[in-house]
Amino acid sequence: MTLPPAASLFDPAETFYNRWQQLNDWLLQHQAFWQPAPFMEPEPEWTLQYPQLAGMVADLSDAHCRALEDAPEKLAELASRHIPALGRYAHLVALPELSRSETEIETATLPEVKAVDMPGRKRLQSGAFAAAVQPLSQPVLDWCCGKGHLSRTLAPHCPESVEGYEWNAELVSDGNRLAARYGDPVSLHCQDVMADNLVLPENTHGVALHACGDLHRQLIKRGSKLGLPRLSISPCCYHLTGEGPYRLISGRTASYAGALALSRNDIRLAVRETVTAPARVREQNRLVSQWRLGFDGLQRYLRKCDEYLPVPSHPPRLVNGDFETFCRWAAQKKGLTLPSGMDFNHWSAFGARRLQQVRRHELVRHLFRRPLELWIVLDYAVFLEEQGYRVRLGQFCDRSLTPRNLLVDAVRVSGTPPVPHSRP
Ligand SMILES: C[S@@+](CC[C@H](N)C(=O)[O-])C[C@H]1O[C@@H](n2cnc3c(N)ncnc32)[C@H](O)[C@@H]1O
Repeated sequence: MTLPPAASLFDPAETFYNRWQQLNDWLLQHQAFWQPAPFMEPEPEWTLQYPQLAGMVADLSDAHCRALEDAPEKLAELASRHIPALGRYAHLVALPELSRSETEIETATLPEVKAVDMPGRKRLQSGAFAAAVQPLSQPVLDWCCGKGHLSRTLAPHCPESVEGYEWNAELVSDGNRLAARYGDPVSLHCQDVMADNLVLPENTHGVALHACGDLHRQLIKRGSKLGLPRLSISPCCYHLTGEGPYRLISGRTASYAGALALSRNDIRLAVRETVTAPARVREQNRLVSQWRLGFDGLQRYLRKCDEYLPVPSHPPRLVNGDFETFCRWAAQKKGLTLPSGMDFNHWSAFGARRLQQVRRHELVRHLFRRPLELWIVLDYAVFLEEQGYRVRLGQFCDRSLTPRNLLVDAVRVSGTPPVPHSRP
């Protein structure tokens, strides 16, 4: 079956709050699928509750499993034969396309000759972001700007010079040097954006491309409190936040009676992606995962305790060794004595089988990554509406360029005074 493009399922009449509520209830209803980590739990509760779905993923070939990893809509459609509510996936994650035409993106992208020190993907991401936020009508402040790649990309389209805040002095000085060399009207400043005494310039358009967790939330909160005319944010690493459980920032979402209560670890799932590492590194990771799972089986057997035992990160040299060496190292780290005559081949084969199973259970778990990400970002959108902004939320580039391709673009509705925040 050919699935319709996600953007065509988007319903413009639906409010952000309404979509957030639907996602919240849907995620809550399916919590058993995404909360347990398959690496730690060989038999998650859902496999017992829905043996047909468990059987369906268990029977997938490796190639089909790989194909479905990149096609969550297809997987949701297949899984909905056993759990009809999963059929709502495509609607729940549908968003408008904020990306522009190829020509507009090309015009907004820094030419390669000027993109010194700028990884290819970063150049294209910055160009797509710059195109999606055109036209620019206020001075721009680039939040957590690194070397100012986005600042330099936006500068030719900006009515005044672009300022950038970044706390890494080396990046600031490299960025300023690049801007001077190419005559870009960009000025980067060494600044901790989390500093309590930070005074934001007024009447500025705050932009942030992939500022992590609390950093982008700080711009949303501080910027809206000051009533900045526009905030354009592509968020990432939602789980990078201070201590404690994850806190919703909008008053309406936070006071919803059935709001999900999530830990930082739950939130991490939103950004867990299949790593596009070189083949050699992928193979090493596969092998070590297999060893870890083999050791997990072995330790459960030895301790006569069916519980996962976290093993710390291993020294890189171990990757060149074998399963037995890994087990001896892990056992020593966990204070376990390995009896003589251990059948390491048996546990190695056990690890290989578990890895197959983990892959298939993760396939189901990963179906909930984008819904979880949207649950977080819709909260930002509702918050900004509460602060007097008109908000656009959509995708500014294709997932293949970056999976963190959401853009929250909030324009202050003129005449609305800044709303005092009820929550810190
Ligand atoms: C993921 S990078 C994104 C950089 C840039 N926006 C880009 O897309 O190329 C996040 C940046 O935030 C900076 N950063 C982290 N904490 C910060 C803080 N408290 N104040 C200012 N910058 C910070 C880091 O040094 C890093 O350059």
